[in-house]
Amino acid sequence: MIKCEDLHKVYPIGKGSGYQALRGVNLHIRAGEFTAITGPSGCGKSTLLNIIGFLDNPSSGKYYFGERDVTAFDDGKRSGLRLRGIGFVFQSFNLLPRFSALDNVKLPMLYAGMDKEPAGKLAAELLARVGLAGKESNSPVKLSGGERQRVGLARALANRPRLLLADEPTGNLDSGSGAGIMDLLLELNKEGLTIVMVTHDQGLAKRVSRVIRMKDGLVEN
Ligand SMILES: Nc1ncnc2c1ncn2[C@@H]1O[C@H](COP(=O)(O)OP(=O)(O)OP(=O)(O)O)[C@@H](O)[C@H]1O
Ligand SMILES: [Mg+2]
Repeated sequence: MIKCEDLHKVYPIGKGSGYQALRGVNLHIRAGEFTAITGPSGCGKSTLLNIIGFLDNPSSGKYYFGERDVTAFDDGKRSGLRLRGIGFVFQSFNLLPRFSALDNVKLPMLYAGMDKEPAGKLAAELLARVGLAGKESNSPVKLSGGERQRVGLARALANRPRLLLADEPTGNLDSGSGAGIMDLLLELNKEGLTIVMVTHDQGLAKRVSRVIRMKDGLVEN
């Protein structure tokens, strides 16, 4: 499903110089896998995940999503793929506080062109799926951290993605809420969803089918 070949990422840091966040990453992830990416702070985990999720571009190298070489895709094509093909769960939830839980989940469906009514129905189903039936009209401000991340997960599933990316999804949660999110992710993976999760939590990493370690901008083999 994902193939990265010799990916480099250089962040510009002032005139003529740059920081090498990725230094030649090779990675192959098959459909159906649940992969955890671990490694010390600053080693490039989020950089890699953002490139896989089309939130950022590599400086060089090749990226294949499905069978397609997406390295040269323009912004329009990339955001289309991101909207319909990929769900993203963030450590800090990234929910809109002025919108209800339901509307937060609905939004990506509306962007994808779905009508309001079916989008609302599907959003309610997704919220029930993550254990939030009855909290549809709550603002994220009136939800606990664990509940916020459940909304984040429901939103990530909105357009039925083939791939779920999660960057330390339990990083801001107590261990109980974190375990609940992890249980949901494992369930989704059992149903066939491909998941790539960055985590510092060795306990969580132990529960997935494959662990990838990164160090200094490279994937260790
Ligand atoms: N926009 C940016 N401009 C310059 N340097 C950056 C930028 N984003 C990240 N970096 C640097 O690139 C390196 C990799 O960052 P990245 O966020 O990928 O690390 P990480 O492995 O996710 O770390 P953490 O576990 O702390 O989240 C770090 O040294 C970071 O300081
Ligand atoms: Mg990070």
